[in-house]
Amino acid sequence: MSDNPILSVRDVRKTYGGVEVLKGVSFDLERGQSKIVIGPSGTGKSTLLRCINLLSPPDSGNVVLDGVTVEERGINQIRAQIGFVFQEFNLFTHLRVLDNVRLAQRNVLGRSKQEATRRAMEELERVGLSDKLEAYPAELSGGQKQRASIARALAMDPKLILFDEPTSALDPELTGEVVQVMKDLANAGMTMLVVSHEMGFARAAADEVIFMEGGVIVEQGPPSTLFTCPEHARTSQFLRMISHEHQEA
Ligand SMILES: Nc1ncnc2c1ncn2[C@@H]1O[C@H](COP(=O)(O)OP(=O)(O)O)[C@@H](O)[C@H]1O
Ligand SMILES: [Mg+2]
Repeated sequence: MSDNPILSVRDVRKTYGGVEVLKGVSFDLERGQSKIVIGPSGTGKSTLLRCINLLSPPDSGNVVLDGVTVEERGINQIRAQIGFVFQEFNLFTHLRVLDNVRLAQRNVLGRSKQEATRRAMEELERVGLSDKLEAYPAELSGGQKQRASIARALAMDPKLILFDEPTSALDPELTGEVVQVMKDLANAGMTMLVVSHEMGFARAAADEVIFMEGGVIVEQGPPSTLFTCPEHARTSQFLRMISHEHQEA
């Protein structure tokens, strides 16, 4: 069983208000792989992540996590086993950093306070926040908030982590520190599915790039291939557009 993909997405479809947003999406994620999902806004990228972790279950199709469908596992197991890092951090503003990283370990995994503290401190050290344990989120920069939410995800020992545009809410000078943490994680063998247009991460750390448009995967492949000789005109158009946007930013 350990040779199976850690995540297998099969013909996932999702309709909102009569509009089919995901029109049959299929791909696999192997243990230790990191894949990056790119594509125009409104194309279903966030919906795909939300279908994977049951925030909004698919209308049809299958999401299989380590051999068992997410529906069979249920919401609590999925919360424990799939980390989620959001664009907007989603830290609890009334809790200090250390408590943010301890909370789900205590409530979802039932860890002792001592064990939760130990794991929280390990992961906060890994993301460079050992000096911010007692800070409230409002006292952190955007980059520090996002690193705290990555530590929170890691402390759960998830099978994989989903990232939804983790640097989009950050000032440009703060994206580098978050991208560096994500590169380190990918290189350390964490399994990751990342929605992002950070080409630096894609080139340095993604095993594969998935290009989505209009609710389908147009093409996917290693960054070296997809970025230099994409198969589809839609992919090259999109790549040209984001490279212009980045030059102007
Ligand atoms: N909860 C929802 N209710 C209704 N429409 C939604 C909902 N979530 C997403 N959509 C619609 O689905 C489409 C895809 O959205 P989304 O997955 O957020 O795209 P992306 O992340 O690629 O920008 C959009 O047209 C969006 O308006
Ligand atoms: Mg989105």
